[in-house]
Amino acid sequence: MVDETKPGWTRRPFTPWYKEGRSWLKQQMEQAGLQVSTDAGGNLIGKIAGKNDDLKPIMIGSHTDTVIGGGRFDGIIGVIAGIEISRRLQETGMTLNHPLEIVDFTGEEPSEFGISTIGSRAMVGNLTPEMLNRTDQTGLVLADGIRMIGGNPDTIKELARKKGDISLYLELHIEQGPVLEQKNKRLGVVTGIVGIHRYRVIVEGKPNHAGTTPMDMRFDALTGASELILELERLCKESYADPVVGTVGKFINEPNGANVIPGRTMFELEVRSIDTEIIEKIMNKFSDFANLIASERSLNISLDNLSKSDAIRVLPEVQDEIAAACSATGETHYLPSGAGHDANQLANIAPVGMIFVPSRDGRSHCPEEWTDFEDVGKGIEALARAVIHFDQKNTN
Ligand code: GLV
Ligand code: MN
Ligand code: MN
Repeated sequence: MVDETKPGWTRRPFTPWYKEGRSWLKQQMEQAGLQVSTDAGGNLIGKIAGKNDDLKPIMIGSHTDTVIGGGRFDGIIGVIAGIEISRRLQETGMTLNHPLEIVDFTGEEPSEFGISTIGSRAMVGNLTPEMLNRTDQTGLVLADGIRMIGGNPDTIKELARKKGDISLYLELHIEQGPVLEQKNKRLGVVTGIVGIHRYRVIVEGKPNHAGTTPMDMRFDALTGASELILELERLCKESYADPVVGTVGKFINEPNGANVIPGRTMFELEVRSIDTEIIEKIMNKFSDFANLIASERSLNISLDNLSKSDAIRVLPEVQDEIAAACSATGETHYLPSGAGHDANQLANIAPVGMIFVPSRDGRSHCPEEWTDFEDVGKGIEALARAVIHFDQKNTN
């Protein structure tokens, strides 16, 4: 189920490992009494009818793709939690008032197409034709990738769910940070989720001989890119009303030879904050700085937006609902999410809530990612309580 040529756990969307994982998941969903289908965005959805099918469904979701060399918990426990709750409903013969939908969203992690949350964007009508036409480095077009896993890109727009189509969206996830562990709390009530803006930066200079070209006659793309990367770090370290983080995690230098002045570098940057205005302020300053470096160093620098997801604040009434369910299960703490989630997209059309469980040493997106099974169990328990309470309180 994973790419054995890479360290850790790697299950990228539109690969054989992803398809294999999905067929296992489909089986688990069916055994838990769910009716399984794939929607236009390639999301795998298991449904149970409610007593009152006029009510809009309660949805539980997350993702089963991973970063390259990731762990076994990020996303996966949220989907498994939904299946486990369905299994318990089946075993105890309990039928909810609302229909229940359990979703494994297509490709939540940043993909080779420069987009995250592909499936949840599709579900809410936020995957544009331009995005569907993007290709990865193997030449695969995103629309064809979605077809490969059983979706239908041609009907995404028309079948997208609208505001009011989902009564509540809930997601259980690992914290991916150190706060719960440090505070010795088992459960987290998520208060908001950061927005993420990603850009591709291409710096073009002139490749030339590293020995014969004097220092004042060079157009070195890599030294120009280095200035930009350090400037991003400086801008994100300034003080703002809310925390902000900025990262360059992907970088390509060409031609990448020890004795050749770099002619072209490409890097991808992202900036995250709970306050979108802060992100925009930083990116405006960064763009001005890029223009300055381009003219000072006679380089061509382009800055292309790859994706933007808006920050969200969880509604106070949903936080209260989740806090009640968590407090009945274990020691609870309120915290914002620095990681992006499918919940960001679902918030466009539905009230959303998230529960976090602790990550050992705050590690995630690496093979060391770990959450004790007892804590995963508590998270599922709290999620089940929240679902049942919401279901009984909102019967019409
Ligand atoms: C998803 O894990 C993200 O926060 O990038
Ligand atoms: Mn995740
Ligand atoms: Mn992740």
